[in-house]
Amino acid sequence: MNLDDFRKNGYAVVDWICDYLEQVEKYPVKARVKPGDIKKQLPGTPPARGEEMDTIFQDFKDIIIPGITHWQHPGWFAYFPANNSPESILAEFLTAGLGAQCMVWATSPAATELEEVVAGWMRQMLGLPPEWSGVIQDTASSATLCALITAREKATDFKVNEQGMEKNLTVYVSHEAHSSAEKGAKIAGFGRENIRYIPTDEKFALQAEELERQIVEDKARGFIPTAVIATLGTTSSGAFDPVPDIGKICQRRKIWLHVDAAYAGPAAILPEKRHLFQGLENVDSFVFNPHKWLLTNFDCSLYYVRDPELLTRSLAVDPEYLKTAHDKEVKNYRDWGIQLGRRFRALKLWFVLRSYGVKGLQEFLRKHISLAEFFKNLIAEEDNFELVAPAELGLVCFRFNDGQKESLELDEFNQELLQRINGREEVFLTHTLLRDNFTLRMAIGQRTTEEKHVTRAWEIIKEEAQKMQP
Ligand SMILES: Cc1ncc(COP(=O)(O)O)c(C=O)c1O
Repeated sequence: MNLDDFRKNGYAVVDWICDYLEQVEKYPVKARVKPGDIKKQLPGTPPARGEEMDTIFQDFKDIIIPGITHWQHPGWFAYFPANNSPESILAEFLTAGLGAQCMVWATSPAATELEEVVAGWMRQMLGLPPEWSGVIQDTASSATLCALITAREKATDFKVNEQGMEKNLTVYVSHEAHSSAEKGAKIAGFGRENIRYIPTDEKFALQAEELERQIVEDKARGFIPTAVIATLGTTSSGAFDPVPDIGKICQRRKIWLHVDAAYAGPAAILPEKRHLFQGLENVDSFVFNPHKWLLTNFDCSLYYVRDPELLTRSLAVDPEYLKTAHDKEVKNYRDWGIQLGRRFRALKLWFVLRSYGVKGLQEFLRKHISLAEFFKNLIAEEDNFELVAPAELGLVCFRFNDGQKESLELDEFNQELLQRINGREEVFLTHTLLRDNFTLRMAIGQRTTEEKHVTRAWEIIKEEAQKMQP
């Protein structure tokens, strides 16, 4: 494609995106297709000759779009949000246009330095300890893996990197921790058997006394307690682990403490929610995702460490071909994560932070928190529904319970209720198990979600529950 054609097609793509975002509410929020439906419309062999962009774009609309689930739909209440925003999309265009590979400072000094600056801005906005250093990772999963590798190296005086894994290093998480903790522990060589799942309290938060008890027991049995992963805003219910208590234990016993605030992290920019983020002074590493609830296109995950030297010593390799004249004066982010090649992710976050400002972002988060409050009240007022967990932010966990059904019957009822709700195609909610009970999750955090969408969701939920009753 020559640049004249690119210009023409580029305008068409922007027009299409604008129309899409304007009309996204008209799509069924969840893709209607069955497994294999998309594949069977695509040829099994690659095209021998290049095709016209008009044809490719038409196929995008006709074949691909029906197989897309619309995360930017205002009826998106599933999983957690993955916001985009026009500002962030523009920056993603520019990132693609520049096509820069930002593995070291020299391969794009502005990318490295902008990353340092936005990580510093975010650290100030969240009230994180000023001595922490930040880096943008692709996902919280990668950041947690980095934390586990660093913890492993620190605990073994960097021996595992040299000699391979020791068998007796243990990792501690609550039963409610995200699966990326388990995956990270597997990849980092701890082994699933060395993950200790600590029980939670009535609010689904890790019980610090149980953690300490388990650590003491493990030490007595010859294990080396190496890392604790605490969650601020768990995936299932939005619970907050008691980081101040966990931090004291980790400090006393010299165990790495990593905090996973992938979803909830942005809420730390709200003074009225700052109390949920106490105790960070004893934390070694911390991750949160602007790509969830902060208007920044996937992927963009901010990872902070107290001691960057430990991180880079754990991950760095130093081949001759990557050395540059400025290595001693600059940050080379290639040593701050798993991959060598790095996208210019700081640009979209910079666009978002500048165009919304701190106040704009605070308003954005407050809108969702107050909608969640509104939804919580609707449930509390309805006899046949119950709240299943405290809802501090935008996630509300609830279920139908008329007080007449046994546990199994209730689970089946709620399972079918969820299917029926999503079958209406106007909203999309997901589920989890809390205390083994089938629970519906209503995660409010989509950029364009308004009170009318929450009200509509509630109407649908009630209507479907009504239809299911004799
Ligand atoms: C608490 C928590 N941690 C980690 C993750 C994983 O995030 P990512 O997709 O950025 O790896 C999630 C995803 O929802 C999450 O809720």
